[in-house]
Amino acid sequence: MQTQALPGFRDFYPADLALRTHIFQTWRSVAARYGFEEYDGPPLEPLDLYTAKSGDEIVGQLYNFTDKGDRQVALRPEMTPTLARMVAAQAGKLRKPIRWFSIPQLFRYERQQRGRLREHFQLNCDLIGEAGPLGDAELIALAIDVLRAFGLGPGDVRVRLSDRRVLSKLLQHRGVPPSGMSRAYEIIDKIERLRKEQIDELSSRPDVFAPATVSDLVDISRIRGWDHLESELAHSSELSKSGGHLKETYESLSAMGLAEFVDVDLTIVRGLAYYTGVVFEVFDARRTLRAICGGGRYDDLLDAVGGVQLPAAGFGMGDVVLGELLREKGQIPPGGASIDVFMAYITREDLPHVLTLAHQLRDAAVRVEYALTPQAVGKQLKLADSRNVRFAVVVGPDERARDEILIKDLRSGSQESIPMNSLANTIKARMNG
Ligand code: HAM
Repeated sequence: MQTQALPGFRDFYPADLALRTHIFQTWRSVAARYGFEEYDGPPLEPLDLYTAKSGDEIVGQLYNFTDKGDRQVALRPEMTPTLARMVAAQAGKLRKPIRWFSIPQLFRYERQQRGRLREHFQLNCDLIGEAGPLGDAELIALAIDVLRAFGLGPGDVRVRLSDRRVLSKLLQHRGVPPSGMSRAYEIIDKIERLRKEQIDELSSRPDVFAPATVSDLVDISRIRGWDHLESELAHSSELSKSGGHLKETYESLSAMGLAEFVDVDLTIVRGLAYYTGVVFEVFDARRTLRAICGGGRYDDLLDAVGGVQLPAAGFGMGDVVLGELLREKGQIPPGGASIDVFMAYITREDLPHVLTLAHQLRDAAVRVEYALTPQAVGKQLKLADSRNVRFAVVVGPDERARDEILIKDLRSGSQESIPMNSLANTIKARMNG
């Protein structure tokens, strides 16, 4: 048997799980501040939930198979279609706007690389039943506040904000025909990563676009910041109208004091097919890692999945890239001791007293360990040391004869004998003191 997990899958040893728990707790506590309720759905879904809605990239990465009942199924690669399905099923009953979050484990058969695995956990926050820009601002603020709660500031992480409606109007204004729109999106999405020769190559291929169009795409991709975009949109009233939703989203974030995290940048297109309006991604400021978070508005998905017309927006934040960034920034919580008291015994006759006392302590919510195999007291204390424990309690024949036990505070080095029946109170008092 191999001792390694499958490629792209992780073993969570206790130290790894401690980081994951820290991430999940922070996610939950910030989502709660925004009034979001937690939900979950099944990890296995009908294959066609994704083939029709998610777009080619994710469909190419599906873990899918035929189950024993001859159903075509897939492990969930993302949460949004499940959410759309669940909300559509009970749309009449649910109070709008729906503010829900979830922390699903997701599966994508990707080429394993830094920041990309075949499973990951993703905080999903979605707001359903609200079409206005304040909804988009609320979600972006939530994503930023999650990162702030991890100790990250605007010098560490940047939100790149766009709106597909603005991009398509600008492309239209520069003469891109409807038939060329999705190709233009694809190029804009990749333009930062293209070298000059590749851009020249595109310009020289009339089957793709006229050379002038390629230089328009380059121009559009260089727009940075709301003011810059606003001046581009001033060329026509139709253009400037298309920017209204993005402008209000940005201004709301400004009023919240969060604009210093946000860069308006039309090269954020997003790979998923269902987005219809504002889209955003969060990156580390040095741009050495992949996206930490991505999301946007998807006003047509609930209709496509369940025939319910409800506007929606949301984001997903993965644990993999976030974990890498937290490690890089030294924002990992220190691993604390997992026990408070180590109980040692000198003779075999002391052991029943250890069991009684240990159990009393555990009932009082104190974390306790003792040696399961009788061994020399020196060896037991070595084990206590390796556990980074605060107190060692020693039960021995001499103390027992006096109804006492010995407590050593391993932090201060002090030790004293106390009445056996006051152990739990003494330990609790010292732990709180
Ligand atoms: P996504 O951009 O595919 O969006 O994923 C969101 C985040 O999940 C990414 O920015 C990344 O941090 C993480 N992620 C994605 N794939 C992997 C992977 N293979 N390994 C590690 N991390 C990964 C969505 O999934 C949308 N459904 C989000 C959404 C929710 N949109 C609206 N509501």
